[in-house]
Amino acid sequence: MWEGKKVVVGVTGSIAAFKACELVSRLTQAGAEVHVVLTRAATNLVAPATFRELSRHPVCVDLFAELAGRPVAHVSLAEAADVVVVAPATANVLGKVAAGVADDFLTTTIIATRAPVLFAPAMNVRMWQNPVVQANVERLKGVGYHFVGPATGWLACGETGEGRLAPVEEILTAAGRLLKAADLAGRRVLITAGPTREPLDPVRFISNRSSGRMGYALAEAARRRGAEVELVSGPVALAPPPGVRVTQVETAGEMRQATLELAAAADAVVLAAAVADYRPAEPAPHKLKRTADEAVVRLVANPDIAREVGSARRPGQVLVGFAAETEDLLRNAEAKRRAKGLDLIVANLVGMAGSGFDAETNSVIILGPEGPVAELEQRPKSEVAERIWDAVVERWTGGENLGRAT
Ligand code: PMT
Repeated sequence: MWEGKKVVVGVTGSIAAFKACELVSRLTQAGAEVHVVLTRAATNLVAPATFRELSRHPVCVDLFAELAGRPVAHVSLAEAADVVVVAPATANVLGKVAAGVADDFLTTTIIATRAPVLFAPAMNVRMWQNPVVQANVERLKGVGYHFVGPATGWLACGETGEGRLAPVEEILTAAGRLLKAADLAGRRVLITAGPTREPLDPVRFISNRSSGRMGYALAEAARRRGAEVELVSGPVALAPPPGVRVTQVETAGEMRQATLELAAAADAVVLAAAVADYRPAEPAPHKLKRTADEAVVRLVANPDIAREVGSARRPGQVLVGFAAETEDLLRNAEAKRRAKGLDLIVANLVGMAGSGFDAETNSVIILGPEGPVAELEQRPKSEVAERIWDAVVERWTGGENLGRAT
């Protein structure tokens, strides 16, 4: 995967800078052409000569000391890069890039590149938790920068908490994912995400705990892999992923209408939304009054969007649903896959910490007509999303089952 790839490794002034040596060494051994860019602060922690020997390339520190044969070196490096990895990334470099400040070799390279940029933060736990740092991270994520870690554990300052550099293995995996070929280029994909809200009256509704993270991670991954992405989203507190067309909806009825309209032109549809199965039969036109000790609300079933998409499928389309289950995961998921006419179903264990609704991570088994395709336990939703797209691509390239649910 790394053979011949041009990787810029940015190293900033965190005590974890020494771990970047292993990162550079592993990348070089794997065949990548590695160019290390150090900030001035980082040179106090690891000598540039170490990185020069490990990478077998000159190391960049000074913005105005042009590298041999490279006019405007930071720009040519930015243009040549297949991926930029900043490990460790301090609060300082995150703040500068978030504010658009480019005052040294590394920040100029990051701001000038079109390659994906992966930050691996490392800092004191209180610095990491500082609302300004968190706001910078959110801002950077919102405009398409990628993050891995930080991990939790013992920190060099003597404290314990979140702020350790992610393990080198994880940084390599995350960077490798960013390198993936644009295998969804030329494909149009549709994703549903988030909850629906079913009104009881003008101010109250029935809903669920879906945060939209799983669906938004799917949209972001598909976009990065080159797809044209439509996202139909229930009400969530997430910023739309860059480059994705979002249709905001509230009720299952609105989600159904938008999804059916867009599904017709989609090569793949992934239904990650937690659609309310029922809605109040007669939503009150005025705010309901408290008039008795008990109140009964009659519910009626919502349309099953996945089933409708499944029955209107066109040849070559790949349809993926989710099955949120608290027990009998595989049996229930397979029954849903068949009943809804889907190619793949993501059997999703919910109702426990670290998986399903409103969690950062997810535990899933991806099921196809031939059985389990992949199993992921408590993995970041971004990683689960990548594996789901891998499974969709496998369906397209996998021969005769193409576009036919069994
Ligand atoms: O949003 P997050 O906080 O990140 O949480 C992610 C998630 C847990 C919501 C997601 O991973 C997930 O499991 N989504 C499906 C939730 C669900 O409602 O599952 P279900 O088993 O009830 O539905 C099965 C499938 O049918 C789903 O693809 C669902 O989108 C679809 N469906 C369900 C009901 C309905 N009326 N219409 C549908 O299309």
